[in-house]
Amino acid sequence: MGSKITGFGAYLPPETLTNSRLEGLVNTNDEWIVQRTGIRERRIARGEGTAALAAKAARRALADAGRSPGELDLIIAATVTPDCFTPSAACLVQAELGAVNAAAFDLSAACSGFVYALDTADSFIRSGKFRTVLILGAETLSRIIDYTDRSTCILFGDGAGAAVVEASEENGVLSTYLWADGASGHVLRAQALPQDENPFGTRAPREISDRAVSMAGGEVLRFSLSEAPKAMDEALRRAGLTIADIDWVVPHQANKRIISGIIRRYHLPEDKVYMNIDRFGNTSSATIPICLAEMREHGLLASGQRLLLVGFGGGLTAASAVIAL
Ligand code: UT7
Repeated sequence: MGSKITGFGAYLPPETLTNSRLEGLVNTNDEWIVQRTGIRERRIARGEGTAALAAKAARRALADAGRSPGELDLIIAATVTPDCFTPSAACLVQAELGAVNAAAFDLSAACSGFVYALDTADSFIRSGKFRTVLILGAETLSRIIDYTDRSTCILFGDGAGAAVVEASEENGVLSTYLWADGASGHVLRAQALPQDENPFGTRAPREISDRAVSMAGGEVLRFSLSEAPKAMDEALRRAGLTIADIDWVVPHQANKRIISGIIRRYHLPEDKVYMNIDRFGNTSSATIPICLAEMREHGLLASGQRLLLVGFGGGLTAASAVIAL
């Protein structure tokens, strides 16, 4: 018994944060942002939390798969911006959908989160424990961005993507690879709870900048440029395939320069690599499932195709998978 992805869905909040709007907030300009990142706009959630975005993406994925919420056995939400520590984002989505037969939990692996969730779903299904799993990548990163920090606020956006993974006689997850380098985690960081801030602690309450994303951009860039291809190579090796067997590469949308690096490294035609970073920026765990849902919507996906997914970022983490549709 294997597993197969049977449905994709995405939801992006309607409000657009353009480069020119950012020019009014920090000392930056459209030309710098486009040249260094490829990003032109990102979406910002207003009045909607991570679980609300995720539930909308989930409904679309369920409709695409032809499944009802009651058929779900498990919901896994990959997120670094849950609305609460408890209930989890996955539990909030379960309640919103009325998925009364599902177990639910969150998974924290930042920009590699969706691929980690896919591997977890596939493993549960192969073990025989669950048959129908909803996986989510959902973020409201705007809540942990310091909009006075030009090195981070230009990159990130809000959004959610979802996929339904089902038990199948045909094997749809051909290989996966998960990796982490926690010792380097400090180069991309967002504090969850303040440390040592209670009546017994030593610190005074701190400002937003203490819990906002902080990033040593150059170091994360170097990590991504070297680890993304390593992860891709490993997923291909485990699947017994080469890049020539792949119809689409779907990389995490962190920076157009990283995606261009992947294109050069594998001598890929640009139309084999999906990119939407110009419109949505970096939505962490949500970028890959948003790409997949858009590809489905635009008729780019067909039965029999093989896709290579690669995530990389906070943790630091990297993860890849080869899937067959
Ligand atoms: O999703 C997780 C994975 N994420 C990634 O893998 C991406 C991580 N990193 C990056 O995408 C890039 O490092 C950035 C886009 C964040 C920065 O690009 P960079 O080429 O590494 O630029 P830099 O940080 O070296 O900065 C170059 C210059 C600096 O000025 P000086 O020191 O050369 O005078 C910065 O102060 O650009 C300046 N700068 C800006 N200028 C205008 C930094 N941010 C901005 C800005 N607008 N927003």
